Amino acid sequence: MSRSFLSLSSLTREEFNALIDRAIAGKKNPSAWGRPLEGKSIALFFEKPSTRTRLSFEVAVYQLGGQPLVLTGQDLQISRGEDIADTARVMRRYLHGIMGRVRSHETLEALASYSGIPVINGLSDKFHPCQALADYMTLRENSVPAGSRFVFCGDGSSNMAHSLILGSAHYGCEIVIATPAELLPAADVLTIAARLGGKVSITQDAKAAAKDADVLYTDVWVSMGEEAQAYEKKKLLAPYQLNESLLAQAKKSVIVLHCLPAHKDEEITESVFESPNAKIFDQAENRLHAQKAVLEFLLK
Ligand code: CP
Repeated sequence: MSRSFLSLSSLTREEFNALIDRAIAGKKNPSAWGRPLEGKSIALFFEKPSTRTRLSFEVAVYQLGGQPLVLTGQDLQISRGEDIADTARVMRRYLHGIMGRVRSHETLEALASYSGIPVINGLSDKFHPCQALADYMTLRENSVPAGSRFVFCGDGSSNMAHSLILGSAHYGCEIVIATPAELLPAADVLTIAARLGGKVSITQDAKAAAKDADVLYTDVWVSMGEEAQAYEKKKLLAPYQLNESLLAQAKKSVIVLHCLPAHKDEEITESVFESPNAKIFDQAENRLHAQKAVLEFLLK
């Protein structure tokens, strides 16, 4: 069984930091990557829409010398009932790796277990580790030190909050999750973060959370597949909007991050999104460099 990347908890702190260092070095000097995927075919499997994950993985595999194969659920016999175990066992006969964006994290676990080839999580209902890796790369690029205060405002039970919590333990920063009591992070994620040495606090007071923040982060309130809960979630999350009032609480040097796509004037105001503190499009670009580091780590 090859090594997969389904969650940041599968990395040691040293591996996490080495991936960030590698991504930053490769961003500065793209020719240093070489062609570690020469002769290798990687499936990019999407059960859900994507802009950044699709672009960054397809370009990353191509630039590393490999062949990206973009597949949606509709392209495969999965759409007609073929099970994931058989699909995975066929994939291993053709491919060297799989990136999956899936509805259920269990699908990725089954792909990894039945294919035996490296599987990369390009977003599941539980985690979004590739995004979090690019996010912490953006912190390192902006000289945000270990021990800093990272504040996430929004849905604490989301895949993004979970991955940022685990990443904070590896990065060595304190993470504050400002979220309603109805949307707390999953208990098992908090247990893993504690085991990794993470310092996590949870509050319902977004303004107090933002005080002296080094990083302010938010994400869309209604994730893909949650449309039926849109009204309820928007009501719960309204006090957690990343706006000028929260920005004023933070350090002057604070960086503002959003993993995109953004719903402006919902989870983040247009003025904060466009403020000089926002590093959102560097963060989006960093998906490409972080993805390359992960692909090289698993497939070289
Ligand atoms: N942040 C992110 O994963 O973007 P996409 O949904 O566009 O891939």
